[in-house]
Amino acid sequence: MVTVKERFEIRIDSEENPLLEGGYAPIEEEIEAFDLSAEGDIPTDLSGAYVRNGPNPRYQPRGRYHMFDGDGMLHAARFENGSVSYRNRWIRTRGFEMEGEAGRAIWPGLMETPDRGLPVAWGSDHWLKDASNTDVIPFNGKLLTTFYQCGIPYIVDATSLDTVGPLDAEGLKIRQVSAHSRTDLATGELMFFDYDAKPPYMTYGVLNADGSLRCFSEIELPGARLPHDMAITPNYSILMDLSLFWNPDLLQRDIHKVEFHPDLPSRFAILPRHGGNADIRWFEVEPCYIYHVINSWEDGNEVVLDVCRMRTPEPGPEKTQQYAGSKYASLLAWASMDAQYYRYRFDMETGQTKEEIIDDEFIEFPTINQYFQGRESRRSYHAYIPQGEPLRMAGIVSYDTKAGTSEKYVYEQGVYASEPVFAPRDGAVQEDDGCVMTFVENMNEGGKTELHLFDPNNVTDGPFTRVAIPRRMPMGFHACWMPQSLTG
Ligand SMILES: [Fe+2]
Repeated sequence: MVTVKERFEIRIDSEENPLLEGGYAPIEEEIEAFDLSAEGDIPTDLSGAYVRNGPNPRYQPRGRYHMFDGDGMLHAARFENGSVSYRNRWIRTRGFEMEGEAGRAIWPGLMETPDRGLPVAWGSDHWLKDASNTDVIPFNGKLLTTFYQCGIPYIVDATSLDTVGPLDAEGLKIRQVSAHSRTDLATGELMFFDYDAKPPYMTYGVLNADGSLRCFSEIELPGARLPHDMAITPNYSILMDLSLFWNPDLLQRDIHKVEFHPDLPSRFAILPRHGGNADIRWFEVEPCYIYHVINSWEDGNEVVLDVCRMRTPEPGPEKTQQYAGSKYASLLAWASMDAQYYRYRFDMETGQTKEEIIDDEFIEFPTINQYFQGRESRRSYHAYIPQGEPLRMAGIVSYDTKAGTSEKYVYEQGVYASEPVFAPRDGAVQEDDGCVMTFVENMNEGGKTELHLFDPNNVTDGPFTRVAIPRRMPMGFHACWMPQSLTG
């Protein structure tokens, strides 16, 4: 039975923005449903929830819409004793509430000009709405949602998906927090960073498992940067100074033009987990841009870092040409991601760096068994990104880097998958003991949405179980597995 908890009226003219239509179009209702029907067996030894964040805009945007502008909405499939329930909730951010009171969008989006007259704003240059729509991770018994370009994380109850409230950044005396700050499930600590258009250009800190502040440091950078992720090992944190950032001259005039600097080496800062700026060792690598880290670990004197590295950091004319005539040409070109599996090795003794491409397949939105974060791992799961169209997660690619093998399952055109997550079986020890799952929205069947479960050792054969989700669910961003054992 489907219970509608709350219904909102959404009236958005997509203005021919394909990222507001079809498989991306927002939904109006917050619902919950229990004992969902399934084709195939639902494992009885999975206890927790697959939670996915993503944009679900509520009001007509001020100007052109970018996916990062949409209000964050969580969708969760909860597994308990062999049955699955579903619910979805908007994250009640301050921006969401303020716009609700105003009955309209207040902040211009990422593709527009800043409105410096607004009383409050977020993001690395402080002019965006903090939509908290990008990432979701477990922390301190709850879920923590974060925003692409830095904001205040929101604490969300993992069972009800109700928003508890913002993290008390002011009380903790920290600045903002970027998406892809990372929780170490072994210690419960949260390693976080933010970046800013003005000095200090970056900050880094650690929250203890109970939410108190362990350490906080300003990080010196040569200018404003746009890092998207960080990595952790038990002893180190890795921060990024990459060769793609806002044109500094235009930034002085409040114009945000992202450019790749092919002559400027990219750099990784490796610092002790509880250290600060003074403890950093910098490692230079080939100029590049990276959205997402796969995993990182210590191997003798070396720190290994696996990432999805963009083949084309800045879309060239051939990509923009494809969308010529559309006022969204630039957005669509930037949204055509062509990242590939790439590995760095940083020698902490000699300061030497090695880097190599592992596979040339186009993959993004990487996940691993989260209990292996920071430890040597061999398995990862990625969304397959077909080229020649704007961002669509079109399937799953899994890797076993030790065996040097990969598997791939691709959905047909018109089908939108989500970031796949790995759910460990209760009490699992082995890295691959569990299952991989993704939400799948099929626009060829009117938006019929299912949750697909895959055997991590046999992704190619497709899902072994399909759970019916009683609503259409637009494509989103990041997801996590929230184990029941961590839910407080
Ligand atoms: Fe991301």
